[in-house]
Amino acid sequence: MAYRRIASMKTVDEFRDYLSQLGLDLPVDDEPLSQSQGSPLAQPLQVGSFLVGNRWAVHPMEGWDGTLSGQPSEHTLRRWNNFGESGCKLIWGGEAVAVVPEGRANPNQLMINPDNESSLAELLSVLKRAHVKNFGNNSCDDLFVGLQLTHSGRYCRPNRKERLEPRIAYHHPLLDQRIGLSPDDDSVIISDAELEQLIEKYIQAARIASRIGFQFVDIKHCHGYLGHELLSGFTRPGKYGGDFNGRTRFLREICEGIRATSPELQIGVRLSLFDSLPYQPSGMDEKSGRPGVGEPMKYEGKEYTGFGCKRDSPLRVDLREPIELLRRMRDEWGVTLVNLSAGSPYYNPHIQRPAYFPPSDGYQPPEDPLAGCVRQIQAVAEIKKAVPHLAMVGTAYTYFQEYLPHVAQAVLRRGDVDFVGIGRLLLSQWQLPAQVLRGEDYRAKKKICRTFSDCTTGPRNGLISGCYPLDDYYKKRPEFQQLKEIKSARNQKSK
Ligand SMILES: Cc1cc2nc3c(=O)[nH]c(=O)nc-3n(C[C@H](O)[C@H](O)[C@H](O)COP(=O)(O)O)c2cc1C
Ligand code: SF4
Repeated sequence: MAYRRIASMKTVDEFRDYLSQLGLDLPVDDEPLSQSQGSPLAQPLQVGSFLVGNRWAVHPMEGWDGTLSGQPSEHTLRRWNNFGESGCKLIWGGEAVAVVPEGRANPNQLMINPDNESSLAELLSVLKRAHVKNFGNNSCDDLFVGLQLTHSGRYCRPNRKERLEPRIAYHHPLLDQRIGLSPDDDSVIISDAELEQLIEKYIQAARIASRIGFQFVDIKHCHGYLGHELLSGFTRPGKYGGDFNGRTRFLREICEGIRATSPELQIGVRLSLFDSLPYQPSGMDEKSGRPGVGEPMKYEGKEYTGFGCKRDSPLRVDLREPIELLRRMRDEWGVTLVNLSAGSPYYNPHIQRPAYFPPSDGYQPPEDPLAGCVRQIQAVAEIKKAVPHLAMVGTAYTYFQEYLPHVAQAVLRRGDVDFVGIGRLLLSQWQLPAQVLRGEDYRAKKKICRTFSDCTTGPRNGLISGCYPLDDYYKKRPEFQQLKEIKSARNQKSK
């Protein structure tokens, strides 16, 4: 692969030169500032009625490691403890939590219901205790924690890790093929009556979340899951499909219900701002025996069904509908914060979580991963101008690796985002935001995520997720050995 590794770039100037060789326009500061030096990342921001202490956010990341009844396990508790230690003042969701059992993405996904209320409360307490222990007695006063509510739609696996039990919004010309769904099988389409019941479940879940002490809930609309899929339901008949009002009705009705029953709770939405065609490997790479470079699936139709991409040219981003949606969220539905992501980890991961090394079911990157990061940052910047006064969290910063703080600070200073959200890097080095704010050397321990993708490959093969290569907790676990065996068997098979 011709792309340069970030670790090989020894100075920030080398990193900048490489960006300009790629033709990428991205602000990069010379060095990260500490809190006492006035870092933009240390500035508080008012979100609705709450003053959030700084501009670092933890993205939601599940570990496929809850109990079968949807309660946290020791691994889940540890992850949330680490989020509390991170120094981030915005904890976006922690992880996806299913509102109904059949909507789980895996049998070990957390679930929110009255039976699980006290265990979810313990999860929140663990996070807060860790925060207090690290940052002092009153440190939770400006800590803003929400819970991500989800239904996994097309990607439900509620009973067995290896068995998809999809509930789709509509038959999709390419995504159906990928999951082996017959275009005539209408039994998997979720009906309007079921959506109405589901809306009630979201509203009830929000009540529980508020009782527990979460300050906001995220009505997840990203990554190909049900909420996101409904947004592209151009061909879905009935009141939850078709025109813009129909495709966004599900979200609107949930927001209205939450405002009526839990007015004290803020509402957030994680949105895949744009999408693209699904990608697949172009055969096998002969040299490495691994899946080849990703290429878009062929689409012959005239009007592609994707949200935030041109219908007649779906490889191109089109932000017109996302902008309209965000305006309505802000002006009419009471949404106070959004977390902007893109695409889906299932069918176009290079636009969603750019990586140098793909997960086992992925493909070699079809572009320098930096291009994927910059695409997301530029889209968010455009949205910020078009929809001001709505707090926005940006995504896809992990790939910047040692230069993440330099980029984060510069993007914030330019006003192109409000919060810098971090995903994978916080699995390997969750202390990084606090280290940057204290002015410490965050590179010293050599725990910076290199996007090996084992945290995705693990669960794709039925294992718990975690940073196997860099976090000793997972390195020592038997699953690491299993993961190595799975990867080496796959490589042998493909040779
Ligand atoms: C192991 C793992 C679990 C994830 N779980 C969730 C999730 O529960 N909800 C969600 O919205 N995104 C989830 N994501 C996506 C991340 O929140 C984030 O968007 C993505 O990793 C890109 O950010 P990054 O480049 O900082 O890693 C997950 C990602 C990983 C690697
Ligand atoms: S396994 Fe660790 S190093 Fe690899 S992508 Fe995940 S968090 Fe990063």
